[in-house]
Amino acid sequence: MRIVLLGDLHGNRPATLAMEAALRDIPADETWFLGDAVGKGPSSAFTCDWVREHCDRFIGGNWDYGIGGKEFPQDGYYWNQLGPERMQWLRNLPSEAELSFAGLRFRLFHGRPVTPLLTASSDREMLEATMATEQGVYDAAIFADSHRPFIRTLNTGYICNTGSIGNSLGVPKAHCMLLEDCPLRMTILSVPYDNEAAAEDARMDPDLPHRDAWIREVLTGEYSR
Ligand SMILES: [Fe+2]
Repeated sequence: MRIVLLGDLHGNRPATLAMEAALRDIPADETWFLGDAVGKGPSSAFTCDWVREHCDRFIGGNWDYGIGGKEFPQDGYYWNQLGPERMQWLRNLPSEAELSFAGLRFRLFHGRPVTPLLTASSDREMLEATMATEQGVYDAAIFADSHRPFIRTLNTGYICNTGSIGNSLGVPKAHCMLLEDCPLRMTILSVPYDNEAAAEDARMDPDLPHRDAWIREVLTGEYSR
């Protein structure tokens, strides 16, 4: 059994297509979307539709709720591109889910708004924010949101980040995560893509908010806004 977990596509069409091609050779039994299909990049309608077509299970991210729910007046660019039907879908996504796999109970969520940015937290805060909840104690947590993939342990279990398909920080490639069983394997997939093509998509769209920061992020992986 193989599960793919992915998120943070953020309107980056070249990165999403590169990930699609890579996953074609690694067929999954189930694909989970962990939030942030839209926002930041110029192709949010494309990445929103891609998620709906290629994933089986869905969790919303802070950008999905913010744009889908018209929370921020400066997001009009994305509202115009997405239209009411996609925005309704985005704002109604569930915020977390549970997955039983390889004998472990995984808690799955995007990050914000369920928890603040976990990468900025101490181990103890991370543990308290993820493993022990009102729904019980989990064996592992998988989230997205930070745009930086990792697999590590806390005192009581695993904590993992899928990384980002379209807006990776640190290493500007497209990332996602694989779970396989017998025995449990957890893998970060790192897929090169045409970063210059992603930058060019933004250069062609003068209305894209924070366009220069976006171009810098896709070319260098340095957080810029
Ligand atoms: Fe994100």
